Amino acid sequence: MSFQKKDLLSLEELSAQEITEVLDLAVQMKHILMQNTKKTPHLQGKSIVTLFYENSTRTRMSFELATKFMSGAASNIAASSSSVQKGETLLDTGRTLDRMGTDVIIMRHPMSGAPALLAKHVKASVINAGDGMHEHPTQGLLDLFTMREKCGRLNGLKVAILGDVMHSRVARSNMWGLKKMGADLTFAGPPTLIPKEIAAAGCKLTNIVEEAITDADVVMCLRVQLERQQKGLFPSVKEFSKLYGLNQNRLKLAKKDAIVMHPGPMNRGVEISSEVADGPQSVIDEQVTNGLAVRMAILYLLTKEEIL
Ligand code: CP
Repeated sequence: MSFQKKDLLSLEELSAQEITEVLDLAVQMKHILMQNTKKTPHLQGKSIVTLFYENSTRTRMSFELATKFMSGAASNIAASSSSVQKGETLLDTGRTLDRMGTDVIIMRHPMSGAPALLAKHVKASVINAGDGMHEHPTQGLLDLFTMREKCGRLNGLKVAILGDVMHSRVARSNMWGLKKMGADLTFAGPPTLIPKEIAAAGCKLTNIVEEAITDADVVMCLRVQLERQQKGLFPSVKEFSKLYGLNQNRLKLAKKDAIVMHPGPMNRGVEISSEVADGPQSVIDEQVTNGLAVRMAILYLLTKEEIL
């Protein structure tokens, strides 16, 4: 095994070999999830804490379930009801968790780089569960897992990522992960929502979504993050949907067996129509299940040395 990291902070920092190792292990974890009794001893005696300064349904719940299925002790700190409200700093919160013997801190924070800062100051492993507009590495890994499972490969796969790229940490994690795995990646969206760093990283970009979708194996929609936007980045939600949203007609441009992905939560009727989201090419529900398997694999890899 080559995966020797203390923390998982980004996909930019992982090699293709490390990503492959996570995805291969997640295949085994998925077999466990398919059994009637979902139980392994891998996190026995381990304390796993979710520390979320932003809302979440999928990420937090799947880490908590993954911990329980692997026999670990799962605890949650919601910043809104913790001592953060009394002015406690992030590093003091981290130190407190360390002194309680926490093995892994899973952290979501509105500021890019906050999990990396915490990781430098605590003994516990830190998993970035989404930091500002930077990365969401476990979402990127579950997306890669789903593409590989459904399409049989990542190398050479034609992937179109549509919409609000600017504000999307999911887009950045997918960009790094897919580039390393040799996929052919095109981003499409309004000029105001495609950051220059995408071109600088060597990815294709276009403002015409039809160009990106044509002959794609995978079409991924991103959530329009209205809460992170200043006004004026696109004229109206209605116009965004008309020009850039994924609907049945646009999807016909992709390969016949193309899959449709969305990290959730979805704005139905904005970046994706309900007809497509609930249609036969959608793998959005499977992404959620695969998120559990991938997070079980990551928890195992970050704690394995102490177990063996
Ligand atoms: N995709 C994702 O991160 O969803 P949550 O915000 O519900 O965790």
